[in-house]
Amino acid sequence: MRQEQGGSRSYKEAVMEKLIISGGTALRGTVHISGSKNACLPILAATVLTPDKCTIRNVPDLADVRAMCAILKWIGVQVKHDRKAGVIETKAENVVGVAPYDLVRKMRASVCLLGPLLARLRSCKVSMPGGCIIGNRPIDQHIKGLMRLGAEIVMEAGYVNARCTELVGTDVFMGGRFGSTVTGTANVLMAAALAKGVTIIECAACEPEIEDLAIFMNKMGAHIKGAGSPTMEVEGVPELHGADHTIIPDRIEAGTFMVAAALTGGDIEIKGACATHLGAVRDKLEESGVNVQRTNGTIRVSGGATRRPFDVTTMPYPGFPTDMQAQMCALMSLTPGISVVTEKIYPNRFMHLSEMARLGADVALESNTAIIKGVNRLSGAPVMASDLRASAGLVLAGLAAEGETDVKRIYHLDRGYEHIDQKLRNLGASVERVEEEDNG
Ligand code: EPU
Repeated sequence: MRQEQGGSRSYKEAVMEKLIISGGTALRGTVHISGSKNACLPILAATVLTPDKCTIRNVPDLADVRAMCAILKWIGVQVKHDRKAGVIETKAENVVGVAPYDLVRKMRASVCLLGPLLARLRSCKVSMPGGCIIGNRPIDQHIKGLMRLGAEIVMEAGYVNARCTELVGTDVFMGGRFGSTVTGTANVLMAAALAKGVTIIECAACEPEIEDLAIFMNKMGAHIKGAGSPTMEVEGVPELHGADHTIIPDRIEAGTFMVAAALTGGDIEIKGACATHLGAVRDKLEESGVNVQRTNGTIRVSGGATRRPFDVTTMPYPGFPTDMQAQMCALMSLTPGISVVTEKIYPNRFMHLSEMARLGADVALESNTAIIKGVNRLSGAPVMASDLRASAGLVLAGLAAEGETDVKRIYHLDRGYEHIDQKLRNLGASVERVEEEDNG
């Protein structure tokens, strides 16, 4: 029944496309950074916490955002999405508490609906998201956190079935084997906002995307203190109201263009990014000899004449982001000397390395550590994107490689980078988007 009414039929699998990149051009000019995907997705989930109208601005036009809108529509939320203006209006007057597998498997962040649906309806059934190419991505901490607030949770037939008579504030520790969890913190925060009494979230994710979610929720009438730090205090309120919010800029998109400037020996002005969210990326680029200047809301990056090798260890914010790891591998592959990457968030997130090796990169993998020996040149070849950030790393490598690189399966890229081919062309890159002849 829902299926017929809802938006699931409007969510289409992306057409298989590839990018053809003729590398070797130093990128120059100005790029404007879009709204943050990973801030937008939980904020859209949070709109379910109120029956009132919410307006979300600076929404990036991305496949993941459209997937989230499809799920919201399916559960009964009225959604108006003006893709050109980057504005989404929602009104969640009547919602059902079921998020089915077919929609959730397309976009993991839909697990963020668990907390708000439980808080609003006292009962919900959300599909487990399933496997992910970047590694094992359990949701045990989400479940633990919601159970601490009083939810009874049963996993059955691939679904998380959650119910409660009421949610009651308490202390909740959100640290797992790999540190804090971003979407887990979001889920507990959203449930705690409508719980009875005070919740203290310890080992909370400090990512700017969580801070943005808390700012939005406080505009809705929530009482959240400490967002952006490891300890958050949430005083529950009986209900939340509508709000108008502008999403923060995407720090990973900005970081990707910073690396593009360094790798191609170019000079790019990055506008609209938040430099304070990019400290770890800036620090590593500077360590390698890349020039990074910050002036009046602009980050200007120009490739250093000579670069030095450097080491990166991924960590929760404010450490070096795992979502910038593949892009750094591309830079290291053309940086003289031996650079080392240690992946501490997703130990297996190295699918891009074997594809970079096809372009001539000298890479070796030992457990969760990549050893990258800089080469003098990469040479273009067909490569296959395996996930969003791996795709970004391959595009960057292709921009610096001699000759033509075809990056196949770029639907991954379109999940998280708004109009990336157009933005790269504006900087002088030769990038063409074409349909893949062979979808195999
Ligand atoms: N983890 C657990 N148990 C849990 C949850 C997480 O062990 O219950 C582990 C994960 O397996 C991982 C670590 O904790 O080893 C961190 O995972 P986290 O939960 O923080 O990741 P996430 O919330 O699922 C978000 C971003 C990812 C980004 C990670 C890490 C969104 C929508 N996604 O995922 O973004 O890589 O945080 O910063 O915010 C991307 O944009 O390409 C992307 C994958």
